[in-house]
Amino acid sequence: MKVVSVVGARPQFVKASPVSRALRERHTEVLVHSGQHYDRGMSDVFFEQLGIPEADINLGVGSGSHAAQTAEMLVKLETVFLDESPDVVLVYGDTNTTLAAGLAAAKLGIPVAHVEAGLRSFNRSMPEEINRVLVDHVSDLLLCPTSAAVANLAAEGITAGVELVGDVMLDTANRFGMEPADETLARFGLSSDGYYLATVHRASNSDSAENLGAIIDAFAVLDRPVLWAIHPRTTKNIDEFGLRGRLDEAVNIKPVPPVSYIETLALLRNAAGLLTDSGGMQKEAYFFAVPCITLRVETEWVETVELGWNTLVGADKARIVAAVSALARPGQHPPVYGDGHSAEALVSCLERRYGGLA
Ligand code: UD1
Repeated sequence: MKVVSVVGARPQFVKASPVSRALRERHTEVLVHSGQHYDRGMSDVFFEQLGIPEADINLGVGSGSHAAQTAEMLVKLETVFLDESPDVVLVYGDTNTTLAAGLAAAKLGIPVAHVEAGLRSFNRSMPEEINRVLVDHVSDLLLCPTSAAVANLAAEGITAGVELVGDVMLDTANRFGMEPADETLARFGLSSDGYYLATVHRASNSDSAENLGAIIDAFAVLDRPVLWAIHPRTTKNIDEFGLRGRLDEAVNIKPVPPVSYIETLALLRNAAGLLTDSGGMQKEAYFFAVPCITLRVETEWVETVELGWNTLVGADKARIVAAVSALARPGQHPPVYGDGHSAEALVSCLERRYGGLA
């Protein structure tokens, strides 16, 4: 079997790591990097730490408007797929890279397999929601991380080619997320349980002066320091919206540039809580039984909320502060994201559908 896998953004590197490893044991994989994330700290560091083979092809697309970025990827990916003629194109998650790869492959009649299929926020103002709905509807094989995702697809009439394989991010977290944390904590001047970890990059927050301002004001008054690993888009907007002064005045907030995967998980495991609008990090908090406060009004990872490990607060200062003071670790922690061997399950699904050994 010949597979072209397409990645481009930070969370996709985390997901591709165990899948590439499992695939390459028996099959031919051509790994394509769209170039959506290109800074060393947003891309290369992840490849190095997670043992991902160097991309066979890098399209170098970079940043741009949604249309410009997606269009350039579509054109370049079509050429790659025609040249490589794979049995299947593997796409991950919900970014513009996912949409471009899914659409280009489907239009060429090449089967699309979607890792992390079936996730829904039911909020169509999120670019990711548009991407994931469209990709699911052109996918031939829908690899779902949770039973909620399977149910979402069924509600849209998609039942053929749907497989529940668990969450590949758990595979990665088990393999690379348990490194000793002492050095990392020392580097940031933190002690275990003595701080909150924060990340903010969702368009609804990072592109809104009001939401970013409310988040800064909330972090500023919390009872522990907040280590905030700031995404480049958020950094840029903090300056553009004139919020830099407010951030600098908040002595409680420790802003730092994007942190590597291994360091992020070390910081997460030792945090008193996570404040985030990331999808992946809500799950990673659950993997390590760290309570999470989500700076959004809805989530795709509904299990974390239902089980009491995650609280949705939006970008509302009073709600953020109240949720932090109510942080607790619930008694129940079932394995809702699978057994940590999802990549093998996923590759078996690909083999059953697209043929045996290459
Ligand atoms: C993208 C995904 C989002 C995912 C996130 C993970 C889409 C629509 N969004 O959002 O689903 O959760 O990746 O981080 O695909 N930038 C840099 N250096 C980089 C990359 C980006 O400085 O290496 C800056 C640029 O100013 C760029 C901005 O960040 O314009 C946004 O980058 P982009 O890739 O468009 O979206 P993300 O916000 O990263």
